[in-house]
Amino acid sequence: MIIQENISLKPYNTFGIDVNAKYFISVSSISELQHVLVNNKGIKKLIIGGGSNILFTEDIEGLVIHLNTKGIKLRSTGDTTVVVSVAAGENWHDFVLWSLKNDFGGVENLSLIPGNVGTAPIQNIGAYGVELKDIFDSCEAIDLATGNIKTFLKSECDFGYRESIFKNKLKNKYIILNVNLRLSIDNHGIKTNYGTISNELQKNNITNPTIQDVSEAIINIRTSKLPDPKLIGNSGSFFKNPVVSKETFKLLKLNFSDIPSYEVSNKLVKIPAGWLIEKAGFKGKRFGSYGVHRKQALVLVNYGGAKGNDIKNLAYLIQDTILKIFRISLELEVNIIETI
Ligand code: EPU
Repeated sequence: MIIQENISLKPYNTFGIDVNAKYFISVSSISELQHVLVNNKGIKKLIIGGGSNILFTEDIEGLVIHLNTKGIKLRSTGDTTVVVSVAAGENWHDFVLWSLKNDFGGVENLSLIPGNVGTAPIQNIGAYGVELKDIFDSCEAIDLATGNIKTFLKSECDFGYRESIFKNKLKNKYIILNVNLRLSIDNHGIKTNYGTISNELQKNNITNPTIQDVSEAIINIRTSKLPDPKLIGNSGSFFKNPVVSKETFKLLKLNFSDIPSYEVSNKLVKIPAGWLIEKAGFKGKRFGSYGVHRKQALVLVNYGGAKGNDIKNLAYLIQDTILKIFRISLELEVNIIETI
């Protein structure tokens, strides 16, 4: 277990941004992690998992710890559900495939989301009508200040739309070590009502889908719209979909009659940020080595060799433009790492 110096972080972020870490270590067990924390108390640290929700903008002067712990264990088995304990360093989609192979339901709608299991609760990953919180049981996390391990129950995590306590009050205070998820054994409660899932199933003449069918349909939809980070650097949705009051939405509708929306509550609606960005003329726009994806305007891309600051400035330009045209502030979903 040796700390390396001046290591490129390009392979460790799905945007493929080439910055250096002054110090770098990959840990593959909790005891290794504890050892590194105890022996490097005075040094600033940045913990990375799958690197799928970060944008690096400059070299990292401190110690980057890459969490590479592996393991999936059955923790308990009930009549209708199991609780599975998954190490933070497991790749999310590999875990989804493992669940499908064992016929455990609940994660099929979350197929092909990039990133690792340990970072999934931080932003409460979600897609096609399901969020991590729907299957989350608890997680174990280490307190960076004391080295103590604490269990967080679902009720303690403050989950919201792409939000949790780990992104807010406890930001940079804990490292998630294991995530415990409750999956169904049968009666999977398949959810196919989001957008195009049912169309995709119909196309393949599937009327009574299994969790494996739903996963396959979602993989097809995602691969047709979202760029594969192995081929084109990206971090999925760069912005959150804004939530506005129904009154604000009514006013917007007067000027933009085709604006789509989804009801969030009897007072609030969500507007697809991808629609706003497309309407503002950014969809498919390329600025040399970076730009806006041509099939989904919510995704910013690195075609190769882009600097983090180029992408950051494009994001700010998009935010300014959307504010001017629609009077809506777009919040970032991706975590911009300025320095540590
Ligand atoms: N739209 C456009 N133009 C675009 C993109 C979208 O007009 O370029 C409009 C269309 O009206 C479309 C609607 O937006 O019907 C919704 O688009 P989509 O189904 O692609 O979903 P989204 O709201 O843009 C969200 C998540 C995605 C998730 C999908 C599917 C956020 C910020 N993003 O995108 O999550 O995969 O729903 O559930 O909530 C991610 O977080 O990285 C991510 C990819």
